[in-house]
Amino acid sequence: MKLSSANINVMVKVCRKAAKILIRDFGEIENLQVSVKGPGNFVTASDKKVEKIIIEELQKARPTYSILSEEIGEINNDKSFKWIIDPIDGTANFLHGIPHFAISIGLEHDGEIISGIIYDPIKDEMFVAEKGNGAYVNNKRMRVSSRSKLENCIICTGGPKKDSKDRESTLEEYKKFSSRVFIPIRKLGSASLDMAYVAAGRYDGYWQKDLNYWDIAAGIVLVKESGGFVSDFNGENQYVKNKTILVTNSKINKEMMEVLNS
Ligand code: IPD
Ligand code: CA
Ligand code: CA
Repeated sequence: MKLSSANINVMVKVCRKAAKILIRDFGEIENLQVSVKGPGNFVTASDKKVEKIIIEELQKARPTYSILSEEIGEINNDKSFKWIIDPIDGTANFLHGIPHFAISIGLEHDGEIISGIIYDPIKDEMFVAEKGNGAYVNNKRMRVSSRSKLENCIICTGGPKKDSKDRESTLEEYKKFSSRVFIPIRKLGSASLDMAYVAAGRYDGYWQKDLNYWDIAAGIVLVKESGGFVSDFNGENQYVKNKTILVTNSKINKEMMEVLNS
């Protein structure tokens, strides 16, 4: 089955176009790894190039929508519709030649994310969701996992960022999960794919601090439409404001919250 609507079709087309550049540039990274200068500047340029294509194409299709994008910030237009864009989520992986990063685009309507796409161009996995119409990976319906005991789960996280004020508490949270419950914790370096993987039932849960709206926007609708929970660490929906996010299947939400707040 396929998720098809006017906005989803626009997002898919835009992602495919931008991904061509991303894949080509990723191929270059390997050569640059061994050069004296390294791939740093090249990656910054690639990030901006990909963002420019995404914005140009979205504006062509939906000229009145507002935009929030990681590199260029806000373009204010229509107050009710806004694209939330992360052109490369997982830049550190991209920079090091690690094939785990994604383009992430969410569509906000009156303050709520109603559609989202997360595209991993290297594995050619396209995760899409629309409010009320389900979530899909490469046209296959997604569901969160059904594991109900944290001890049987695999969860994921990210951070802390260098110089983050949350450094100590982030390390403390990691310790709580790994020592108290003793479960495998993955840290793969792309928040959007972390959320997409919970939606797909691969991970059972995910928590992280200090994220920006563009890191999580598309993931929010993906997880909700797959039957999962999205909240802050207190079970409220203030994840953007509080910059703490907890994403789980429908069974381990309480247990994860207990560990985080213990
Ligand atoms: C980063 C990734 C990473 C997360 C960082 C983000 P970027 O986004 O999502 O997984 O731990 O907090 O900033 O910089 O690669 O777009
Ligand atoms: Ca990001
Ligand atoms: Ca980014």
